[in-house]
Amino acid sequence: MERVRAEAEATFSQLESEDDEESLAKIVRGGSLDYTFAVLKEALRKYSVVPVVTRSCVKDDVFEVVGKDGKTQRLTVPKGATVVLNIEAAHNDPSVWEEPEKFDPERFIGERDKTRDLYGFLPFIQGPRNCLGQHLALLEARVVLAYLVRAYDFR
Ligand code: HEM
Repeated sequence: MERVRAEAEATFSQLESEDDEESLAKIVRGGSLDYTFAVLKEALRKYSVVPVVTRSCVKDDVFEVVGKDGKTQRLTVPKGATVVLNIEAAHNDPSVWEEPEKFDPERFIGERDKTRDLYGFLPFIQGPRNCLGQHLALLEARVVLAYLVRAYDFR
């Protein structure tokens, strides 16, 4: 929490006034709230806002999957089937996340962040129908979190 507060102090002290939103957005995009960003992403992982999404299959689909035994299998998803994507499970998958039950923002910093499976972190899902508002949401939430931590002492 202290690290988030220090980032908030350093960020807001660069502003001439608290409502200088343009400068704030520029400073934040430049990375001044990077640890706060990591805290936010870790919160989105550990406490999935959207734990499950579903899709309806509009035509028969067949694709190949490689099982844990290394063998390739053909999998059919028939027209009309409902496919459930368990985001909560992906966010707690020990083959992707070391000690998934631990709240550890460092996962989202440096090499550890770059080397992770792209489909392990899905708060906004991936693909053509992913969340349209994700960049706005992440920017806003980062700033709001920094404001709150600067103003209040959370226990
Ligand atoms: C932390 C905040 C947010 C989370 C975790 C989130 C998560 C998601 C997820 C998981 C989906 C896919 C749902 C599905 O297809 O079943 C989605 C879709 C969408 N989200 Fe967000 N969202 C957030 C904030 C926002 C904001 C702030 C906006 C708008 C400003 C927004 C706009 C949309 C729209 C328009 C879609 C539908 C996209 C499409 O179907 O093509 N979201 N969001």
